[in-house]
Amino acid sequence: MIVTIDGPAGSGKSTAARGLSQRLGFEFLDTGAMYRCVAWSVLDQNVDPTDEEAVEVISQQIKISFSDAQVLVDGRNVSEAIRTPEVTEVASLIAQYPVVRTELVRLQRQAAEGIDIVSEGRDQGTVVFPEAFCKFFLIADPQERARRRQAELRTQGKNMSVAEILQQIDQRDQRDEQRTVAPLVPADDAVEFNTSTLTIEEVLDQLEQIVRSRM
Ligand code: C5P
Repeated sequence: MIVTIDGPAGSGKSTAARGLSQRLGFEFLDTGAMYRCVAWSVLDQNVDPTDEEAVEVISQQIKISFSDAQVLVDGRNVSEAIRTPEVTEVASLIAQYPVVRTELVRLQRQAAEGIDIVSEGRDQGTVVFPEAFCKFFLIADPQERARRRQAELRTQGKNMSVAEILQQIDQRDQRDEQRTVAPLVPADDAVEFNTSTLTIEEVLDQLEQIVRSRM
């Protein structure tokens, strides 16, 4: 059984996907972390992120694994390193490259083989798992999304203004929405939620109810 949760940056999908997977007893797949791993590797190897061919090679060779909430690249724990603003920016850029997407989509389908999973990203319901039995598309007001991102950055000891974050989020969303391959759009059969005024428990209650009604 596959549940997909897609949406723009800061829409609350990671928290929702993680919480929902726990409530259902399903595995959880953070596909954004995979794009971040490629971006981290690009920076780690001093490759120019605009050199599409060089980035493609990295995406074809990279070994990404998840273990006990840790993200590993070639056995190295990169869980924190992939959350920096630099990696965030490069991830958004390299996610536009068709070959990179093909490679990561292959790994995502492999990861979901034979298990029950909640998979979160931008294209999970449209491209990666079109056959998923339950699809959600989460949105939230820009101010709220920026505020959430600001709180997340604070936990990493970084201070950024809401205005600055808003500008970055906007730019990432535009890239996701406008790219030719797997753009960010709700699947036709996705249930849409605006999470701006809801607590995480309220979001989870509603998502869980819908999933269980279809099981
Ligand atoms: O979700 P997160 O912010 O961690 O994702 C990092 C970047 O990876 C996003 O800015 C987006 O461009 C890209 N991404 C994607 N497709 C996915 C997941 C993430 O293009 N399924």
